[in-house]
Amino acid sequence: MCALATMILVQPRALAFHSGGAGECEGCHSMHGSKDGVVQIGGGASLLKGSDASSTCLLCHQANGDSGPTTYHVSTPDGEIPPGTSPKQLSPGGDFGWLKKSFTWYADMTSPMSQSSGERHGHNIVAQDFNYQPDITNITAPGGSYPSQALSCISCHDPHGRYRRTLDGSVSTSGAPIKASGSFLTSPEPDAAASVGTYRLLAGSGYYTKALGAGQSFIYGPPAALAPLVANRSEDTTQTRIAYGAGISDWCRNCHTDKIHNGTVSFQHPTSGVATGTSSGVLGPDMVNYYDSYVKTGDLTGTAGTAYLSLVPFEIGTNNYATLRTILSVTPTKGPDTADGTPAVMCLSCHRAHASGWDEAVRWNSKSTQIEYAGKYSQEGQLYQPYGQGRSEAEARQAYYQIPATFFASNQQPLCYKCHATLPQ
Ligand code: HEC
Ligand code: HEC
Ligand code: HEC
Ligand code: HEC
Ligand code: HEC
Ligand code: HEC
Repeated sequence: MCALATMILVQPRALAFHSGGAGECEGCHSMHGSKDGVVQIGGGASLLKGSDASSTCLLCHQANGDSGPTTYHVSTPDGEIPPGTSPKQLSPGGDFGWLKKSFTWYADMTSPMSQSSGERHGHNIVAQDFNYQPDITNITAPGGSYPSQALSCISCHDPHGRYRRTLDGSVSTSGAPIKASGSFLTSPEPDAAASVGTYRLLAGSGYYTKALGAGQSFIYGPPAALAPLVANRSEDTTQTRIAYGAGISDWCRNCHTDKIHNGTVSFQHPTSGVATGTSSGVLGPDMVNYYDSYVKTGDLTGTAGTAYLSLVPFEIGTNNYATLRTILSVTPTKGPDTADGTPAVMCLSCHRAHASGWDEAVRWNSKSTQIEYAGKYSQEGQLYQPYGQGRSEAEARQAYYQIPATFFASNQQPLCYKCHATLPQ
């Protein structure tokens, strides 16, 4: 076979590395460790290409000099995020670069200086080669026992992509071989001969990393969800819809347990899932109507067909992939609809899975009474910055995924009000 033919065969692999399952071993394991194509493992570090698991992932998932959001990149290098400049990636999970940005400001003349430290902005993955350090304030997952020292990309994603969705809809590590990623609107459906990967290679029931052992096994399987092929993009003119189907909150509870928002660890709030009862977090008919009519503070003239707000997504309440596909392809801007399933509030209604520009990886600034003041997200350059809280206008707008400030009211309230007409004080 000529060299050209080999190139044609090999090239597509670069764009579809994992393909829903285990990618080529040499993408992550050192070549010297493989013998006849089988990786020979010895030593503690599993002969990874990076110093640790996350550093190995970031060899591909971060790059120097991206001009903007770039497909599967989820981190921006240190040198490209000086003060005033935001991380570049706008993927649904978020750019880990926010963990390296701390903000300080004065709210008024009398208050001491306030701070929003980098480590509060999300999941502090440990990646030595890329200067990501473990969280030193949260020693374990709040509400659980998962150690922060051991938090990495492979805490959540199975590097070998063994979990698969089979024809009958169940998820396991055995069963028909994986033919492709199962994350996308364009992904094939499983059939009798082949399965598809779980959403974003997320790990399922029974999963644990080698370093931690079976004591930290996952209980709950990965969520049902689908993404458009291009999900890492500016939302300047149109928003990015992820069809979150079911099971998000339970999946997060693999590490955070059902205590997290029951008032024990953080404020009381219902969320979807079997762990807290199937009716928990369900948006009743009144709340569905309210979500649909809410446009912004002071404007309740919205309609169901265009009500979706990517900063306040909800779980559709179904694991029927045909429904998820229809929503992504036909009605991506539609609000919650009881005809699709049982819509509910879930962890990602308020949080991003990786990191965000705000404390506790919330999708909006939950530490301020307004997310916008006098038509701007930030009070950049002013002495007192009670609302923008030290972010430049460019940083704050990126934290809102480039949705223009004019989309909201000039004195916009926090986005809890997308679901709630009133909130207890
Ligand atoms: C050799 C380069 C490379 C390495 C190393 C790598 N990835 Fe990827 N990854 C890619 C590419 C290319 C894509 C986009 C195409 C695809 O999905 O295969 C991707 C996509 C993904 C996706 C989305 C897949 C989907 O089907 O939705 C996840 C999740 C992911 N990678 C996680 C990881 C994790 C975790 C690690 C480390 C254990 C890792 N990657 C290491 C190249 C790499
Ligand atoms: C996306 C990155 C990635 C790819 C591709 C990958 N691995 Fe791994 N592999 C890892 C990581 C990360 C670990 C460490 C897992 C842990 O600590 O739990 C690992 C661990 C292992 C281990 C266990 C190591 C030990 O010390 O017990 C074996 C065996 C292994 N990989 C074989 C393979 C083979 C064979 C392939 C190709 C079919 C492959 N891997 C592809 C990332 C990858
Ligand atoms: C705490 C769990 C967790 C950790 C840690 C984590 N991820 Fe993710 N990741 C997720 C979830 C959940 C999603 C789906 C997010 C969504 O659709 O809203 C995701 C999505 C992704 C995607 C698809 C693009 C996106 O942002 O939605 C890629 C690629 C990815 N992760 C790679 C990585 C890499 C590389 C690391 C380590 C540097 C990592 N993840 C660490 C949970 C995690
Ligand atoms: C594999 C375990 C694991 C899973 C799964 C997991 N987390 Fe975490 N999470 C942790 C750990 C450990 C910490 C503490 C370290 C840190 O804050 O960086 C944490 C911290 C957090 C924080 C606090 C961040 C801060 O800076 O104060 C939030 C919010 C959070 N997780 C939300 C989620 C959501 C939402 C999901 C599901 C999409 C999820 N977690 C899934 C392990 C996990
Ligand atoms: C209605 C919005 C909302 C939902 C739904 C939600 N959270 Fe939160 N969460 C927040 C806010 C806001 C904070 C910051 C609270 C504070 O500072 O007191 C927070 C804080 C946290 C923290 C940090 C607690 C600490 O002590 O540092 C974790 C961890 C967390 N949430 C995980 C989750 C998980 C897991 C779920 C799903 C089971 C979830 N959240 C659902 C809004 C929400
Ligand atoms: C995606 C929709 C949604 C968002 C966004 C949302 N909530 Fe809720 N909230 C609900 C649902 C559903 C309930 C339970 C049913 C009800 O109270 O009508 C609820 C209940 C509550 C309750 C009563 C809790 C109890 O157990 O008594 C409080 C307080 C609350 N929310 C505060 C907040 C705050 C604060 C925010 C913003 C950080 C927020 N909510 C954002 C949907 C949402």
